[in-house]
Amino acid sequence: MNFHTRKWVKPEDLNPNGTLFGGSLLRWIDEEAAIYAICQLDNQRVVTKFMSEINFVSSARQGDIIELGMTATHFGRTSITLRCEVRNKITRKSILTVEKMVFVNLDENGEPAPHGRTQIRYAEETFARYRESSRQVPQSAVAVEDERAAARAEADSLH
Ligand SMILES: CC(C)(COP(=O)(O)OP(=O)(O)OC[C@H]1O[C@@H](n2cnc3c(N)ncnc32)[C@H](O)[C@@H]1OP(=O)(O)O)[C@@H](O)C(=O)NCCC(=O)NCCS
Repeated sequence: MNFHTRKWVKPEDLNPNGTLFGGSLLRWIDEEAAIYAICQLDNQRVVTKFMSEINFVSSARQGDIIELGMTATHFGRTSITLRCEVRNKITRKSILTVEKMVFVNLDENGEPAPHGRTQIRYAEETFARYRESSRQVPQSAVAVEDERAAARAEADSLH
């Protein structure tokens, strides 16, 4: 499980009991899980479809640093299932677990669309793909400029 995001529990995140408000935690988890699903499926159009029961294992207090962990447990045809855990960064004591969060990959019409993924994509792979695609930019820019020059030459020859 990868723990990417750290949060510092502040006064505005507390419930009247003086511990971390569950709603704040769920908002952070939903966003973190959505980002994870977006990166795994390489598509910004993903929506939360299902969340299993949430186990608030222990409370966090003001000043605690907590970290949010995610892992993909299943790749479906249009969906991805994640397991989530939040823990205290220093003590590693578990604060919350969600066994199952399902996100659905959508097309431009908002309909479920196959994502074609079958296994976890790691950050290095995503970066390598980005580097590969950005390497192609100058080539395609040259190709576009060549096309423009050819069009100008053709236009000139018509005059
Ligand atoms: C997401 C949505 C388009 C899916 O529509 P749908 O008619 O349920 O689509 P499908 O029946 O084709 O199911 C899509 C996928 O979700 C899975 N799924 C559907 N219901 C599920 C459930 N209760 N639990 C787990 N997975 C479920 C299906 O198994 C399928 O996955 P697969 O293709 O990998 O097998 C629709 O339910 C929706 O728009 N929901 C609202 C989403 C939303 O607003 N979320 C909150 C804000 S992000």
